[in-house]
Parts: sequence; C-alpha cells; structure tokens
Amino acid sequence: MNDLLPEETPAWQHLEAEARRVLEAYGYREIRLPLVERLELFARSIGEDTDIVEKEMYTFEDTGGDTLALRPEGTAGCVRAGITGGLFRGQAHRLYYIGPMFRHERPQKGRYRQFHQVGVEAFGPATPDLDAEQILMARRFLHALGVDDLTLHLNSLGQPADRRAYRRVLVDFLETRRDQLCETCRDRIRRSPMRVLDCKVPTCQEAVADAPVITEHLGEASRAHFGRLRGLLDAAGIPYELNPRMVRGLDYYTDTVYELTSDRLGAQATVVAGGRYDGLVEEIGGPATPAVGFALGIERLLALMDGERVPVRSPDVFLAPLDPTVETAAMALAEDMRDRGISVWYHCGGGSLKSQLKKADRSGARLALVMGEQEAAEGTVLVRDLAAGEQETVSQAEVAEVVARRAD
Ligand code: HAM
Repeated sequence: MNDLLPEETPAWQHLEAEARRVLEAYGYREIRLPLVERLELFARSIGEDTDIVEKEMYTFEDTGGDTLALRPEGTAGCVRAGITGGLFRGQAHRLYYIGPMFRHERPQKGRYRQFHQVGVEAFGPATPDLDAEQILMARRFLHALGVDDLTLHLNSLGQPADRRAYRRVLVDFLETRRDQLCETCRDRIRRSPMRVLDCKVPTCQEAVADAPVITEHLGEASRAHFGRLRGLLDAAGIPYELNPRMVRGLDYYTDTVYELTSDRLGAQATVVAGGRYDGLVEEIGGPATPAVGFALGIERLLALMDGERVPVRSPDVFLAPLDPTVETAAMALAEDMRDRGISVWYHCGGGSLKSQLKKADRSGARLALVMGEQEAAEGTVLVRDLAAGEQETVSQAEVAEVVARRAD
C-alpha cells in the first residue's frame, strides 16, 4: 500500500480529471461507493473458486458480528448499490467510479495491495454496440493521456448454458493431460477447469496448447453478439487479437471479455480489463438487467504515461513581504488578488529579499510581488518578472490589473 507524496499527486489529478472529462462526454455519471461490503456479496459475484475470494480478500468481523470485506473490485458493489438505490427499474444507467481497491496479493511492480481503478459499468441494453462503445471510450481516454500502444485482446465466454457444455468437453480433455499439469491446475480440473487455460506455468501452457476452445462452443445468440461486436470494431478501425484462452479471473462474465495490455509493463501487463455480465444483477437479487463494464488500473496507466504531459501547477504570483510591519497590508493585498481569481502564494515566515526571491523562483510563478517598508508607506508594490528579471513599481490599487494583463 503506497503513500502518494505531493510530487506524485499532480499526475493522479490529471489522470482523474481526464477520466471524468472523457467518460462524462459519453454519458457516464459518477457513483461513489463504500469501501466495505458484506463478504458474501463478493463471494457470490466474483466466485468462491477465484483467487480473489479464496485468498486475496481483507476480511473482518465487525462488532455486530457481520463479516465484511474491503472491496477487491468495484463491479459487485456497483451492482449492489444499483439494486439498493432502485436504479434497475427499466431504465438504462451508465456509471463510473474512481477509487481504491484492496487485494492481499504478493506485491511486485504493477501489483499492489491497495491499488486504484477507474471503473465503468453500463446497465441496460444487451446489445454489442454498448460493448464496442466502451472499448472506443477506453481507447479515447488512453489517447488523451498519450498512451496509444496497447493491444486489445478479445474473447467470448458465451452464455452459462454454452459454458456448461464446453466445460464438460474441457474437463474430459484436461483429464487426459492431468500428469502434465501443476498441482494447482490438477486441483482445478473439476472445480474450475477454464482457469487451467490461464495458468502461467510453462508446462501447463504447453499441455493445454491444443485444448478445445470456448468460441467453438458458443450458442447462436452469443456467436451473433460476438460477430456484431467484431464488425463494429473492424468498422471503427480498431485492431484486436482474438484470444480464445482468455478467461478472466472473475466468474461473473458472459459473452464479451476483453483486456488492453502493454508490452512495456513486464509481468503485470493488463491495464484495462472488462466484459459483459448479463446475469449478475439478477444473481445478487435485482431485476434481470444485462450489463457490461471495465476497470482500468491507475498505477499501471501512470507507469506508461509520459510525465511531461502532466500540467505543472504554479501560482500566478509569489508575494514576498519583507518586514513584519508590512504584513497586514501585504496579506490584504493577497486576499484582494485572490478575490479576483489570481492565485497567490503568500510567503510566511519572513526572510531576506534574496531568500524570498529564491523561493519565488522555485514556486514557478511568473511574477513576484515584493513589499518592503517603503512600498507599504507609499501604497505601492514592486512587480518583478522572474523570467525576464525586469521590475516596476505599481500602485497597490492597480496591481491586480497589471498581474492579470501580464498573465494573458
Ligand atoms: P480485474 O481484471 O480484476 O477486473 O482488474 C482490472 C484492472 O485493475 C487490472 O487489469 C489492473 O490494471 C488493475 N489491477 C488489478 N489488480 C491489481 C493490483 N493488485 N495492483 C495494481 N493494479 C491492479 C476487475 O476488477 C473488474 N471489476 C473489471 C470489470 C468492471 N468488469 C466489468 N466491469
């Protein structure tokens, strides 16, 4: 779990501001959700047999005896909130959230125990145009932050009935390869066979290289959905790789799943991940409501961004009072300028002209205003252009105008 020191927060704020701008332009509205939910919610939605639920959750019992968990992801809580808030009564909703998630994973570069996501969830139509538009939106957001080199991986997991049929075929195949699989995979053959396809152990990957794939077992509706989604992406000129082995680490998906990965991130390469989950709202007790969403890992995206693009925030003006006797006048002048929308860093704590000008330089301000005893007595202030090194004396009544003019 990382602290974010002040030199890091401008990049985070920039990323968050761009997320809000892009997502809201597509009609998504923010939802703010609790960090804690009942453990049972995550077990039911993410799946009992997933790594997240089996071993990565921070759980605790509260004094009332309820078993709670820090949220490991945002989809389950968003669905729960939609049901509680009565959002799924026939209307469509496009929602987004930004915030921390918690998983007790083995920390490494790009993988943390508290990490942050920008997540989007759209509830309503089951049509593939919504899936396609979300992918376009993710790409537009990444583009706004200068990240254009991610690879889109696409798969369809079909409907539950397709998956049940496929599962039987897959289990039979995996039984023939049992001896070549690692212990975890052997254990998973019957409990969660599709996850064996996702195992990163090279011998397992080799053993399942010619396993049957889900896309050959899709029902008609799922095939049509996937075909239409691909058609829309093709028409939009979005390249993608079909990856019939991509199963995702959460159980709620149906039909479309996708990931955007980078080859600049090492082992933790997935920046954006998501898909459809048409059965989840009903599973958790709401009215049958199809849905599709994705989440983007903020830390991973920041690692790909060029820091140069983050706007530097410095004040318009650095105000240097040279003597305690001028403080009241200088402070009043600072407040007056702030009333007019000028940002002012007022120097507290005194010090010589030289040391205060040094601090003014470091603040990044264009102008330093210097007020000594003489200026205070005359009702003036010295305006110094820090880059050009020029200075002029201006009456205090006019200084705000002079500053505003120079800022243009
Ligand atoms: P997820 O694949 O578990 O999906 O996580 C989404 C993204 O969160 C990952 O691709 C990665 O960028 C980031 N992430 C996950 N775990 C960590 C970690 N330990 N450290 C740093 N970053 C991490 C979900 O969470 C789903 N709720 C996505 C979704 C939304 N599906 C539908 N709607």
